Amino acid sequence: MSATGEMAGHGYYDHHSLAQHSAGSFGFPLLERAAAAVPLDDATGALVIADLGAAGGANELEPMRLAIDGLRGRGCERAVSVVHTDIPSNDFSTLFENVEGSPDSYLHQPGVFAFAAGRSFYERIFPGASVTLGWSGIAVHWLSRVPEPVPDHVYCAFATGDARAALARQSAEDWRGFLTARAAELVPGGQVVVVGGAASDDGTSGAEALMDALDASLRDAVAAKRLAADEYAAMTIPTWNRTAAEFAAPFAPDGSTTAAGLTLVEQGFQVLDDPYLAAYRESGDADAFATAASGFLRAFTEPSLIEPLDRPQPERTAIADVVYAGVRARLAADPARFETRWRVALLRIARSA
Ligand SMILES: C[S@@+](CC[C@H](N)C(=O)[O-])C[C@H]1O[C@@H](n2cnc3c(N)ncnc32)[C@H](O)[C@@H]1O
Repeated sequence: MSATGEMAGHGYYDHHSLAQHSAGSFGFPLLERAAAAVPLDDATGALVIADLGAAGGANELEPMRLAIDGLRGRGCERAVSVVHTDIPSNDFSTLFENVEGSPDSYLHQPGVFAFAAGRSFYERIFPGASVTLGWSGIAVHWLSRVPEPVPDHVYCAFATGDARAALARQSAEDWRGFLTARAAELVPGGQVVVVGGAASDDGTSGAEALMDALDASLRDAVAAKRLAADEYAAMTIPTWNRTAAEFAAPFAPDGSTTAAGLTLVEQGFQVLDDPYLAAYRESGDADAFATAASGFLRAFTEPSLIEPLDRPQPERTAIADVVYAGVRARLAADPARFETRWRVALLRIARSA
């Protein structure tokens, strides 16, 4: 089965990605350390920073600025090319509008140039030994494909038996593919920082209650004959939140260089607060909580659940409206029950010099 990890377009994701933004910020100290450590030789060509899994770009401006500041602070005067990458169906128009138009954009600095590449990060994107610094924020939990649909739920964390084993294998294969590609692309001594959607050792991502609300609402749509049973059965959100052990598996346990030529320099783990529930606790406004949290959920799940349906666009939109309204109603009825505390892995990875 093919799958798509794309986000909702036309800026919708950018306006509903508060959780991703707060997750990314935990990686900033690692990015600063990476910018302090990568080699700055006297070459005259542009130095390349790769942004892997950029979406609409709103959450990428700050890390790119930090990376550039770190390099400039070391006296690096080389031109810098920032290359935002994502899958081909990504909302690249919004990305370019943000990079060009945002007052916060790194592009306002002299000697900095912005580009984009529409290619999966599980494959080679860049020429060999051409990338000095890489960044990936909340993107590597999207799998390249779903090996088989998860029976009786749309969220992979609820998979059991053979379906679970197949997903774990796909996740391991994808992660090795990601690392193999970066090992080839990084300059010797180059580094990549990955803030990855993660799981606790028991496999939970922290979003189980929210995903249950989505699954229940989809089942309601089947019961109401808005959605066919076989349409629901084929639905799986193509994500796998890796445990710390799964992230570390391809690396040598003693921190020495692996076969791919990469070392895991730092590995951290963070449990995020729920920004939507925190706002609710301040305001007491359950409707505002439900609107924000269901909008967040819609931004990253509608493209993989509803968009693939073999129906005209207006029907798909109507189904999505009903499904996410169902989620919204569940959330409004009992906000605390849907507290979502995502787990995030923080990884700094270096190619041997
Ligand atoms: C949750 S968004 C995160 C975007 C952004 N980095 C942020 O922090 O808000 C995940 C992004 O990863 C992208 N993505 C999913 N699978 C990918 C792949 N195989 N290669 C490149 N990007 C991918 C999605 O299209 C999406 O834009």
